[in-house]
Amino acid sequence: MTHFDIIPLSADDAPAVRGWLAVAESVARHDLGGLRPRHPLQRLSSLVVSRDDIANERWLAVCDDRVLGYLHLMMPVLDNTHMVYFDLAVHPDERRHGIGSALLRHLEERAADLGRHSLSLWLPVPDGPESKVSAVGANFAITKGFTMSLEGAVRACDLDAVDEAALDRLWEDSWSKAEDFELVAFEGEPTEDLLDGIAYMHTRMSTDMPLGDWDFQEAEYDRERVLDEVRRHRLRGDLHLQAVVRHKETGRIAGHTEIVVEPGQEYDCIQGDTIVDSDYRGHRLGTVLKIANQRRVREWRPKMRYVWTGNAVSNTHMIAINEAVGYRLVGMENVYQKKL
Ligand SMILES: CC(C)(COP(=O)(O)OP(=O)(O)OC[C@H]1O[C@@H](n2cnc3c(N)ncnc32)[C@H](O)[C@@H]1OP(=O)(O)O)[C@@H](O)C(=O)NCCC(=O)NCCS
Repeated sequence: MTHFDIIPLSADDAPAVRGWLAVAESVARHDLGGLRPRHPLQRLSSLVVSRDDIANERWLAVCDDRVLGYLHLMMPVLDNTHMVYFDLAVHPDERRHGIGSALLRHLEERAADLGRHSLSLWLPVPDGPESKVSAVGANFAITKGFTMSLEGAVRACDLDAVDEAALDRLWEDSWSKAEDFELVAFEGEPTEDLLDGIAYMHTRMSTDMPLGDWDFQEAEYDRERVLDEVRRHRLRGDLHLQAVVRHKETGRIAGHTEIVVEPGQEYDCIQGDTIVDSDYRGHRLGTVLKIANQRRVREWRPKMRYVWTGNAVSNTHMIAINEAVGYRLVGMENVYQKKL
């Protein structure tokens, strides 16, 4: 039995930060099978640049200054205040010594102290016997009383493999059904007139997407929260490409999408939210938004190769659009949840 302590991670403690990053890298190589690769700079930048809408706590399991595992609590403060999202992992060479269980106990104690009673995380799971994703996380979670509350799929769009001629045809055809709308694309801060509409889109996104049994409640977005998000992306060194479609006659924002290129990433980037207001569905706005933003990635970063996205498997409309613009299934990931 390894002796270890659970201590807070401080951004000022360089050896501890290095140990934490090394464990995260080992776990990614060992367990995640290449799904959604992250650069260490992404972890570092989110350690030093916090966000107003999430309170973070980071803990390490350490033995003689060696980092064996980590726990990261993310607690929404503006909505969903019953919840803790978390990330928990143990170095592959240090497993089956009770470290994961101790970190999970610590998580449950912290959650109880903070008055939070719902724990959840997104966890990649193998999609077949050939999968390089390990099943250990999901098995561990289930052993510890978690249940699978939303089934999700991970897709990647290989920008080198996209049939651009087919995409041109889809773009033309989509605009023929979207003549009442215009596209506004930008990097970084939206203009003043877009802020309320984008805030509304984020609010709708939080509950319009299929949630299964996940007890996620409506998010509360306003223009300050949108601006905080922009500030955070800028300070972290992210490239934040957004696009909206606007109804020409009323000026209302009818849809929104975003792609984030995190610091250090040359080849992989992340598709964030995409949503079309329910009042405006059926005009191919989702397709227009996705094609426009995906093409802008290459304008900003010509070497970029993969755009990663995740959808609930029941989200058939979004998945159909994703497949049409070039995304292909690469794995599965589910939400696991435990109510305390
Ligand atoms: C999941 C993880 C955190 C477990 O860490 P750990 O330190 O090995 O966990 P513990 O030693 O406390 O194991 C506790 C119990 O979980 C179950 N378990 C853990 N690993 C297992 C495995 N490979 N196969 C089967 N059961 C396993 C067992 O019931 C085990 O008890 P036992 O050793 O007495 O049989 C670790 O494997 C990991 O970091 N995986 C990758 C990251 C991840 O998936 N995180 C999500 C966690 S919810």
